[in-house]
This record gives sequence, structure tokens and C-alpha cells, in this order.
Amino acid sequence: MSPELLDRALSGMVQPKYPNLLIDYLQAEDAGVFLINDDLALVQTLDFFPPIVDDPYNFGQIAACNALSDIYAMGAIPKTAMSIVCFPDDTLDIGILREIMNGALDKLMEAETALLGGHSISDSEIKFGLSISGFVNPNKMIKNNTPRDGDIIIVTKPIGTGIINTVLKADMASPELINIAIKYMTQLNKTASEIALKYDISCGTDVTGFGFLGHLVEMIQNSELGAVVEYDKMIILPEVLEFTKMGLVPAGAYNNKNYRSCYINNFANIPAEKMDILFDPQTSGGLILGVAPNQAEAMLQEMKSSGIDAFICGQFTKDVSRIEVIA
Ligand code: CO
Ligand code: CO
Repeated sequence: MSPELLDRALSGMVQPKYPNLLIDYLQAEDAGVFLINDDLALVQTLDFFPPIVDDPYNFGQIAACNALSDIYAMGAIPKTAMSIVCFPDDTLDIGILREIMNGALDKLMEAETALLGGHSISDSEIKFGLSISGFVNPNKMIKNNTPRDGDIIIVTKPIGTGIINTVLKADMASPELINIAIKYMTQLNKTASEIALKYDISCGTDVTGFGFLGHLVEMIQNSELGAVVEYDKMIILPEVLEFTKMGLVPAGAYNNKNYRSCYINNFANIPAEKMDILFDPQTSGGLILGVAPNQAEAMLQEMKSSGIDAFICGQFTKDVSRIEVIA
């Protein structure tokens, strides 16, 4: 959840240029990629975190969806999983861990991904996650930093789960609101990734800790392009704007803003609560995809008819050098 920590710890460190190594920690990609042969590469990722919802079964589902997401963001197919478990077995019933594992296994089955095993330690706080391995054709993998001028930006899940999780911790979220957030956090990015691969896409990533704009910054920062984003075209989860105005914003959103507001052209002119939402760290968020303009509407419609609440909210363009937000 805090990739910056690892980036800082690894800063300046390099490893040998292994001939089959395509993507490692030096590139800010969603997952590492290691070439097996000309048209097959191994894709690996790892994610774990403390519970974000009260129900252990739901937490297991969310953790699995979140871990699988980086594989789907690369356009890869997940195959195997290893679980990472920290659990206070001296104070909590093992049945809670069984429920977490049950939720994770259900999502892994939906993803046709085999749980091979894992590692667990006794710890004062529950933390759970998975390392996922998958395969991709290296010539067809989706990269996060290769936008194309004019491509339309499509996002495949509504924004606002970080803020709702903060509201939940403050005990102010209604059961209906919690259920809406859980519905999206437990939705695999499998179908969105499969549909995206049928269209002329230039780039893609998933929305997680950096928030929508933070991940969009990663997509453009080493390119010649910028992006224009229209806030009013985005689907924001219900009540999120109201709670944001009340200050129920996760610390991560402020960190994201501090770190990346310099990439937003008109940052100071956008209402602060809208920027909080655009930088809200998501757990198990949707994909951000760049798709050819003449195919964007068809891709959007195919996603919608598959039960994905996707939306078009902007465009990559060389007309701006950074990100222009219209709000
Ligand atoms: Co990612
Ligand atoms: Co992560």
C-alpha cells in the first residue's frame, strides 16, 4: 500500500541486467515481467494490508481482488497465488482467518487462479494479502506509461472507496453505503481487462493507492503528452462529495496531493474537495485505459453491457503538457 517506502529504500540500487528481465522495480509498472520465450512472459505482483472492512469474508474477497488487479492491469492472465498472513492467534479465533481465506478462495476461483500455499506469522494486527503470478504475451501486454495522442480515457469503476472506508472507520457509513463500496471492491478487473484487449488500447493501469489523478500522472509523466480530465463526467460513489466536504478524507489523499499536485495545471483553481476525491486512494479500484477515439464508445458500451460501471472522463493530448482538470 505504500510503494513509496520501497522506492525510497531501493533508491539508487540496481541489479544485473538479466537478459530475460523485462520489467522490475525501476519501472513504475503494475507488476514485474520476466520473459520465458518470445511470446510468453511471467508476470508477478504482491499486495497485502490490514482489514478495511469489518466482515472477514468480505475482507478476504477485497484483498484477493486487489492483488489480482495488477495482473489484469498488465493485460495478463493470473494462474497461481500465494497468501501472506499476519494474524493475532493468541487473541482472535482462527475462525476469523478461515473466513478471510474463504473470501479470498472464492475470488481466486472466479479468477481461475490456484492457491498454492503461503506463509503466516503470529502478529499483533491482522494483515492479509496475496502474491499472484500470471502469464502474458509480452507483445500484447498493457503498459501504464505509453499513452497515445488523442486516446480517450476510460475508467472501469466509480471513485471514492478510500473516502467511504474513512467514513466507515468513523462509524458514519450507512449499511447501504458500505455495501455499495464492497460491491465495487469485490468486483474483479478480469472482464474489464478481457474487453480492453479486444480494442485498440495504448496504455492501462489500475487505480489504487495514488488515487485516480496520481495514477494518471504516472501514465503521462515520462511521455510527451498530457491529459484533460472532466470531473463532471466521472462516476463518484454516492455521498462521497458530502463526506469530503466534512473533512472525512484519508491521509493518503493528502499525501497524494502533496506529492503530485505539481502535475496538475490549474490545481489551485479546483475546489479542494474535488481534488481530494480525484486523489482518493482506492482499494481494488478499476482500470484506467487509453483507447483509440473511434473505438471508445464501443468499448464503453461493451463494458456497460457486461455489468461494469465504466465511464469516459477525458483524453490524452499533446495540447497540454501536464494534467488539466475541468471541474
Ligand atoms: Co497497480
Ligand atoms: Co500495491
